[in-house]
Amino acid sequence: MNPIRKAVFPAAGLGTRFLPATKAQPKEMLPVVDKPIIQYGVEEAVASGIDQIIVVTGRDKRAIVDHFDISFELEHYLKDRGKTRELQVVRKISDMVDITYIHQKEPLGLGHAVLMAKDVVGNEPFAVFLADDIIKSQTPAIRQMMDVYQAQESSVLALQRVEPDQVSRYGIVKVVRSEGRIHEVADMVEKPEPGKAPSNLAILGRYVLKPSIFGILETTHEGVGGEIQLTDALRTMAQQEKLLGLEFEGTYYDVGTVSGFLKTSIAYALERPGLREELLAYLRTLDGLSHQA
Ligand code: G1P
Repeated sequence: MNPIRKAVFPAAGLGTRFLPATKAQPKEMLPVVDKPIIQYGVEEAVASGIDQIIVVTGRDKRAIVDHFDISFELEHYLKDRGKTRELQVVRKISDMVDITYIHQKEPLGLGHAVLMAKDVVGNEPFAVFLADDIIKSQTPAIRQMMDVYQAQESSVLALQRVEPDQVSRYGIVKVVRSEGRIHEVADMVEKPEPGKAPSNLAILGRYVLKPSIFGILETTHEGVGGEIQLTDALRTMAQQEKLLGLEFEGTYYDVGTVSGFLKTSIAYALERPGLREELLAYLRTLDGLSHQA
């Protein structure tokens, strides 16, 4: 069986929720503490044994390309000043992994972005990462999913239970059979109204997919918002072959909304030695102020 070596990162969205911050840079480059969002996902992929990253970019890919490229000027400067730690941080990024960039001319949807990677992925299973979802876990979430793929040879979606009032933010699956944390998916609904969801199991931004998804995407018509939806193609896949979902172990952080992004930034900052005490003390002063108001 083919091992999973490649990961596709769709990064062509316009990031409208974060305007004006995303006017001249992709939202994947916004930092959570001091690391761009996309780097969290790339590190998860590398830690899982993936050795080729395919980033599908839109109009402003430059910052992403530069971030993962060697910066001779910066390295020279840091070396010159004896800033060894910073030099290591910068080098580690460009040494990490091979990245291929594919240009998506128009933002025609997540499904279309994945389809753009067809020729580079070829006829082998691959991972898809939505950088908006950061997952912290002992074993990387995508590794957990790759293990299920290896054992069962079916595509695997990342699942997590969400509160009933949260279902309309996600793709929600309908399950036919379950064995522990592994569920067989029969169908799914993209962003259902509360009360109309088939379960409370939400799809999060990690997918391990068989290459058969490409043929399905090619014949998937435009769906919601005039875009080619990955969820629509996955529904077809569930009718044609076995499709699994894994309730992975780990903590999920949503950086796709401004409030989620801020919460994630605070959570990560509080875990950083040297930042935690000062930030906690500051947050307490703000809380004190709100009580006075
Ligand atoms: C996308 C998918 C959705 C999934 C979500 C996870 O939605 O379409 O099925 O649940 O990612 O974050 P988006 O967040 O791009 O609206």
